[in-house]
Amino acid sequence: MIRAIEWQDNKLRILDQSALPWQERYLELSSYQDVASTIREMKVRGAPAIGIVAAYGIVLGAQGIRTSSPTEFITQLNLIMQTFAATRPTAVNLFHVLARMTKAAASRESIYDINSALRHEATSIHHEEIAASRQLSQFGAELISDDFTILTHCNTGSLATGGYGTALGIIKTAVKQGKKVDVIATETRPLLQGARLTIWELQQENIPATLITDSMAGYLMHQKKINCVIVGADRIAANGDTANKIGTYSLAVLAQENSIPFYVAAPTSTFDLTMTTGDQISIEHRNPEEVTLFSGTRIAPRGTVALNPSFDITPHNYVSAIITERGIIKSPYKQALPNMVVKEI
Ligand code: MRU
Repeated sequence: MIRAIEWQDNKLRILDQSALPWQERYLELSSYQDVASTIREMKVRGAPAIGIVAAYGIVLGAQGIRTSSPTEFITQLNLIMQTFAATRPTAVNLFHVLARMTKAAASRESIYDINSALRHEATSIHHEEIAASRQLSQFGAELISDDFTILTHCNTGSLATGGYGTALGIIKTAVKQGKKVDVIATETRPLLQGARLTIWELQQENIPATLITDSMAGYLMHQKKINCVIVGADRIAANGDTANKIGTYSLAVLAQENSIPFYVAAPTSTFDLTMTTGDQISIEHRNPEEVTLFSGTRIAPRGTVALNPSFDITPHNYVSAIITERGIIKSPYKQALPNMVVKEI
């Protein structure tokens, strides 16, 4: 398994996803400010990975607090949490992690105890995500038959989860089970997570993959070249509406139009039952220069007005099933989800 996130000797080591596939560059981070910038700049990205890295970032931040007063310590810790909360708004894993770390620090007798509890919680979060992605991959692989061609969007593998992967984890598991699988990866404009990261990850695993531009998906579906679509998620509302990388909604509509199953694969840490529908999910809008420039090169005339919503919402009626580590959930989601998923944020 690719080691995208490692916690070693009180330092966080991450594979810089913004440099892939050109360079396999590791960053050693020892301050919480650096960890927060790394998330903001998408050197680490993907909903579960953002949560794991933020947890370790909080550990680093707490270790740097210089006070002997536990009350003052908690005040400063809360400011560190706020820094992470402001990095990326859509993936809910981050906010579940902040709630867990806050709870872990509460009611401790000493600063030493708070630091130990935070370290313990961060490691548990990381281990739980690894286990969840392995388990959901097993469940999801049951939906894959031999000779399937699977279309996937964005990047949902070890890089995005710090573990085995969600949609890509399912694909890897199906291949390990001996099934012959072809993958169609959308390039995923504007930051090309599909072209840069998914293709790179699949090459590491020797899994055949073909790259398409985002706009080619409908043509292939209409040509009956795709057996199913599997994507990840950044936040799933209580009714099954799913926020995921921009372009997911279009794929879901095209899949339904062409009678192709459309699966969402996500650990339960990606559910947000406090949101009754997807309309309540905050969508991150990033710098329009990510659209008008690529890798520093201008691809649209100066003065171009561009939009850059980073995610969209796929209404639950387009989702054939949601694959989690606790099992496969099918419609009606409003009834099924509360039994499967933790409620608290
Ligand atoms: O903006 P990104 O690259 O962080 O967006 C990531 C996605 O949308 C992924 O599909 C999602 O986080 C699932 S990752 C297992």
